[in-house]
Amino acid sequence: MNVNGTHFRTIWLQDPDRVRIIDQTRLPHRFVIEDLRTAEEAAVAIKEMHVRGAGLIGATAGYGMYLAALHAPRERFDEALAEAGARLKATRPTAVNLEWAVNRQLGAVSQAGDVDGKIAAALATANAIADEDAEHCRAIGRHGVALIEEIRNRKKSGPVNVLTHCNAGWLAFVDYGSATAPVYAAFDSGVDIHVWVDETRPRNQGANLTAWELGQHGVPHTVIADNTGGHLMQHGMVDLAIVGTDRTTHTGDVANKIGTYLKALAAKDNGVPFYVALPSSTFDWKMRDGLAEIPIEQRGADEVKYIEGLCGGEIRKVLLTPESSRTANYGFDVTPARLVTGLITERGICEAKEESIAGLFPDKKRTHAS
Ligand code: MRU
Repeated sequence: MNVNGTHFRTIWLQDPDRVRIIDQTRLPHRFVIEDLRTAEEAAVAIKEMHVRGAGLIGATAGYGMYLAALHAPRERFDEALAEAGARLKATRPTAVNLEWAVNRQLGAVSQAGDVDGKIAAALATANAIADEDAEHCRAIGRHGVALIEEIRNRKKSGPVNVLTHCNAGWLAFVDYGSATAPVYAAFDSGVDIHVWVDETRPRNQGANLTAWELGQHGVPHTVIADNTGGHLMQHGMVDLAIVGTDRTTHTGDVANKIGTYLKALAAKDNGVPFYVALPSSTFDWKMRDGLAEIPIEQRGADEVKYIEGLCGGEIRKVLLTPESSRTANYGFDVTPARLVTGLITERGICEAKEESIAGLFPDKKRTHAS
């Protein structure tokens, strides 16, 4: 995607020992590029959400493992790599791409011969994870655009109105995004499209990130307070909801940013199609029951108590609640498969049902006991 006319990915290898990211905590008001030189720096960048979003967390973990391999003492190489993998996996619990990427790296490195071969394997795997992420998101756009075109063909007038929650955009992946990929594909092919962007409290990934990237691409959009979607749906102002996901069970239960479940309920009540876009790296092939099994991250109280923004040219943080009030900060919720109209993947669109998902991905090994 372009930033002020220049193409960027969200993560790239700048030098053999230097990975670069866009520090997303500084957007939308500052565009800051940051260097990662060690696995520990990659872990901190994930933990403190300089990078975030399922696909990008996975890609950063991939490069973090490469940096770990590069700097691991040769005499205890495998042990050091296992430690780095455990450290990276512990940073954030919900997005399954993180453990998927670390395990893929450990598998690739274990197949290689000597230490130099292992470092080369880690680099090739990190690059492959990033390239596949971008390619899969591009394919999601190719498949998902048909849903938007079908609505455009049916509608007599006005834009196709898409509602999205949080940021499952270019910034959450290596390029294109998952939920936004069909939007970009439609916009680029001339479809009149408009996006309702949920602000997504408490961290405001919608207001800060989705609005910024849609704006960079020129896509018409309107930021709305989180509680607005139901009202818009009741008044026929949403044609389609498309959201991302941080982990989806192979039975179709969807973990996504807190508040997604309420949008899915409103969509069901109003007959609005509710789609979830995801690359296959976000499926959990071990879990069956999303509500019971998916770990839900709880984050710090300050994210709810304070809000940050631009004030007189300076970034300022201000207190919203009474100082002494307690807060709760659940990062994600689970939308049961029955509320999901369909899943848009790199291999096509399927129902959020075990058989339908298995039909698209017969090659994936399901490892749960049952
Ligand atoms: O906490 P974040 O920002 O890493 O959460 C991830 C998200 O942005 C959303 O849940 C998104 O819709 C899915 S990630 C592709």
